[in-house]
Amino acid sequence: MRYSVSELSDIIRDRRTIPPKDFTDRVVHRDIIERVLGNGTWAPNHGLTQPWRFHVFSGVARQRLADFMGAEYTRITPPEKFLQRKLENAMQRPLQSSVVIALGLARDPKGKISELEEQLAVACAVQNMHLTCTAYGLGGFWGTGGVVTGEGMRRFLGLAEGDRCLGLFYMGYPAVEWPKGYRKPLPDVTTWHEE
Ligand SMILES: Cc1cc2nc3c(=O)[nH]c(=O)nc-3n(C[C@H](O)[C@H](O)[C@H](O)COP(=O)(O)O)c2cc1C
Repeated sequence: MRYSVSELSDIIRDRRTIPPKDFTDRVVHRDIIERVLGNGTWAPNHGLTQPWRFHVFSGVARQRLADFMGAEYTRITPPEKFLQRKLENAMQRPLQSSVVIALGLARDPKGKISELEEQLAVACAVQNMHLTCTAYGLGGFWGTGGVVTGEGMRRFLGLAEGDRCLGLFYMGYPAVEWPKGYRKPLPDVTTWHEE
């Protein structure tokens, strides 16, 4: 064995989604953010295209993101579906987090790698980031939905046409007890083919 599988398994199983409303206002320092992102870049990716493009919002820039989120939710939500609670959630989350990472996806300029593969690679990067947060005792929350993955967000981030944002990853120190998780037993999700 090259590493402690027991320690690795503990981190994987202890990784939890913790919503920004449960973060304290303690600042996550830049060296920690850089380690989280750096570990993200070690994710597997087909053709070594390294499709992730991180846009880091901290400090007062979070207000700009919050304002965009509010305006974009209002812009894209039909009046009959509009919920004040959702608007407030969208605007509060960036301010409740010490740092928010917009998860940009840059398409392979040679067009050899499919978008699905590029998305899978970014998802692997997010998992690396979330596991690193867990090791630091930091909460992480991957938020998706039309406001953060749509054309408006692409333009807000200045991503090229054809590229997109795959969501926001919110980070902060938890103010709550570390949540418990649940998964189905392995036999419920596994078929063994042996003959
Ligand atoms: C691609 C992806 C998108 C997600 N988007 C959201 C989201 O928009 N809102 C949300 O509350 N949770 C979102 N989550 C987090 C899931 O709700 C969470 O992973 C699930 O409840 C299991 O909890 P755990 O991460 O603590 O194991 C997302 C997770 C993934 C992988």
